[in-house]
Order: sequence, then C-alpha cells, then structure tokens
Amino acid sequence: MSSFSILVLHGPNLNLLGRREPGIYGTLTLAEIDAQLATLATQLECQLHSLQSNHEGQLVDAIQSAAHQHDGILINAAAYTHTSVAIRDALSAVDLPTVEVHLSNIYRREAFRHHSYIASVAIGQISGFGAQSYCLGLQALMHHLQSRV
Ligand code: DQA
Repeated sequence: MSSFSILVLHGPNLNLLGRREPGIYGTLTLAEIDAQLATLATQLECQLHSLQSNHEGQLVDAIQSAAHQHDGILINAAAYTHTSVAIRDALSAVDLPTVEVHLSNIYRREAFRHHSYIASVAIGQISGFGAQSYCLGLQALMHHLQSRV
C-alpha cells in the first residue's frame, strides 16, 4: 500500500445525487460515486477519506485538518465553487495538491457557474464527465503525487 492519503470533499446538495436533477448530475448516488472511487483507490494503492457537507465552515475545518493528515485533496465544492473565498483561502493555506472536479460542465451552464474560486489554487480542474470526473480527478492527483516523489 502506498502511503498516499487523499481527502475527498463533496460540497452542498451533493448528498441528494441520484434524485437531484438527474439530467444534469446523473443517476448515481453519492454513496455509489464513493464506492467507485474506493475501487479505483485500491487499484491506485491510495487511501481515501470522504466527507460531504452542506456547511461551508465544516468544509473549511476539514481542509485545515488535512494539513498534517493527508497528501492531497479531491474536491467538488459544488455551489461553494462559485462563492467561497473561505474555501479558496483554506486550500491556499494548507497548500496541499488539490484537484477540482465537477459532474457537469460548468462552462456550458449559467454564467454564474463559469467562475471558480477554487481553480486558482488547484493543480487542475475536471468538469463535465459525470461521476467519471471524480475518477479522472483521482487519477490526475495520484499521478501528480507519484511524479513528485
Ligand atoms: C457542480 C456544479 C455546481 O455549479 C453546482 O452548484 C453543483 C454541482 C457539479 O458537480 O457539476 O452543486 O459542482
């Protein structure tokens, strides 16, 4: 087992996946997405710690706590992507490699979704591939971590 530990953060309303606007977000539940990620994590030999929260401060607390516990962060900040300087600042403060993911292609949607506060503090962003965005994001994050060693 590699020593890499990844914090997976899911922002507000993602607990409703499966029944929330399935035409946009797909039919998989968050538990099913986490299960897909867990299968991939076994293949990639990393450990995942997943948290969903509807509360900005709880996400900030989790990012701060990640500093000495995890090697990287995979985050779908959901609506907070477009509003939260606090989450952006927490990511910048802990300075862990971070990959931003979105189920939908945020650039094909309403203009208010086109700006991400996370993007400027992330290694990169994957947007528009449904649940697969998370798997692609985890692969990209692990590739980044392994190529640094
Ligand atoms: C989302 C896109 C956001 O604009 C939206 O607020 C979400 C989900 C996505 O995964 O496509 O809640 O992050």
